[in-house]
Amino acid sequence: QTGLITLDPGYVNTGSCESSITFIDGEKGILRHRGYPIEDLCEKTDFLETAYLVIYGRLPSQAEYDRFRDDIAEHSLPHNGLSRMFEAFPKDSHPMALLASVLPSMYAYYPYDENDPAQVDKAILRLLGKIPVLASWVYRKLRGWPLNYSNPDQSYAANFLDLTFNTPANRFKLDPDIVKALDLLLILHADHEQNCSAATVRMIGSSQVNLYAAIAGGMCSLWGPLHGGANQKVLEMLEVIKNDGGDIQKYLDLAKDKESGFRLMGFGHRVYKNFDPRARIIKKHADRVLSKLGINDPLLKLAKELEEAALNDSYFVDRKLYPNVDFYSGIIYKAMGIPTEMFTVMFAVGRLPGWIAQWREMQSGSTRISRPRQVYQGETRRDLMSMVKNH
Ligand code: SDX
Repeated sequence: QTGLITLDPGYVNTGSCESSITFIDGEKGILRHRGYPIEDLCEKTDFLETAYLVIYGRLPSQAEYDRFRDDIAEHSLPHNGLSRMFEAFPKDSHPMALLASVLPSMYAYYPYDENDPAQVDKAILRLLGKIPVLASWVYRKLRGWPLNYSNPDQSYAANFLDLTFNTPANRFKLDPDIVKALDLLLILHADHEQNCSAATVRMIGSSQVNLYAAIAGGMCSLWGPLHGGANQKVLEMLEVIKNDGGDIQKYLDLAKDKESGFRLMGFGHRVYKNFDPRARIIKKHADRVLSKLGINDPLLKLAKELEEAALNDSYFVDRKLYPNVDFYSGIIYKAMGIPTEMFTVMFAVGRLPGWIAQWREMQSGSTRISRPRQVYQGETRRDLMSMVKNH
């Protein structure tokens, strides 16, 4: 039998923990980071400010922001050995296989003393500086392009777009609307309480392993189609429905048939039971970004029709299945020219501050290793009768 479920900082033997980073009210569709509503953070901060808030617990002063930005830029150059690792991977590697693989190896190139807070802070800056570069290398590796390096004079979002798309033959035009839309998407993914990948980071980190290894675990958890992999699956699902004559009802009926194994990707959430506030914000911006870019993507119209039909279907309403953060995000990524296979990588770039914050909080709290218990349902004690009598 399991013991009584008690709250503790590090999941020592339960599935829940105490945290002060993110508050979610699933019934009311509330999401706050360190007390600030996500709607305000999207409107009044940029991604680095939200990252600083999520990690260190308060918004930075201008001087702190400038120092944070400059320190991240200073640590954005990945070791040459990491680029050689990228060269060794097959050309058609899964983007998350590439990104998640180099994470633990960062400790080989940047070992640090976990007991020295200054070195831990530097490891955090190295992650924030190098992940956008490594993410851009994933995109460029799959195209056989030479790898780019950070431009410290640009914002975090602009730098990522530049790193990813710029080639000598085709100077990428940094459209301010695209940069702002990416910055918004990164803010919306920054943290989300004890989701599967954040809980994984805390669980791995509780063994006192280094930060890079714990973040690598979070990356691998996010890779799954039920978690961060869903944004890619949403676009693929919408394409299938579009190519099948846009027969929405057919796919709603398929999603109700458990035998089919088909799920409406981008729908449903373990915590949000009325709406995902992030989906509302992204849906609003999808309209704005696409019309600003003069893009008339039939998938956006199809997504809205699908949402409308599902919200009027008792199967989905009864099960409180509404669009989640992944339902509309891919449509904006697509408008930016980011291919579906990179969507989960984008999610990881946005979620990195949250994983770091969860890891730091867990490290500052309980020093005990997480050790969930089980309800044993196997055989009771049995005597071993030797199968072969004469040996
Ligand atoms: C993220 O935890 C987080 O905060 C995650 C996240 C974050 O920011 O970190 O918000 C990001 O991962 C968002 C979720 C992305 N995944 C998807 O969009 C994949 C599709 N969604 C589902 O697989 C599902 O809704 C989950 C995984 C999101 C939630 O799963 P739950 O809470 O375990 O729900 P469930 O599987 O117990 O389903 C409850 C019922 C079941 O039917 P019954 O057995 O009650 O008859 O709802 C049905 C399910 O079959 N159901 C769906 C469905 N999701 C649930 N039916 C059709 N389509 C769906 N998408």
